[in-house]
Amino acid sequence: AFEVQLASSGEVIEIPADKSVLEVLLEKDMDVPFSCEEGVCGTCAVRLLEGEPDHRDVFMTPAEHASNEEFAPCCSRAKSKRLVLDI
Ligand code: FES
Repeated sequence: AFEVQLASSGEVIEIPADKSVLEVLLEKDMDVPFSCEEGVCGTCAVRLLEGEPDHRDVFMTPAEHASNEEFAPCCSRAKSKRLVLDI
C-alpha cells in the first residue's frame, strides 16, 4: 500500500494493494476523467508533484516516464511511500 496526497485539499488517501488510485479517487467522488482503465489511452493522466511513481502505463514514452511529470492513476503505482498529485 502507499499514500496519495491531493495537492488541492491536502487530503492523504491510502491506496490498498488491490485497488488502483483511480478506483479509490472515484470511490471518494473525485471527478477524474478516465476511459480505458488499462494504461493505454492517457485520459486519466494527472500532474505528479512529488514522489517516485512505478509507471505501469504504455501511452507515455520512456523519457516521459523518466521525467516523472505525469502519472496514470488507472494503473500506475508508487515506489515511494507517498505521491503528491496535482488534483
Ligand atoms: Fe486510459 Fe488511464 S484511463 S490510461
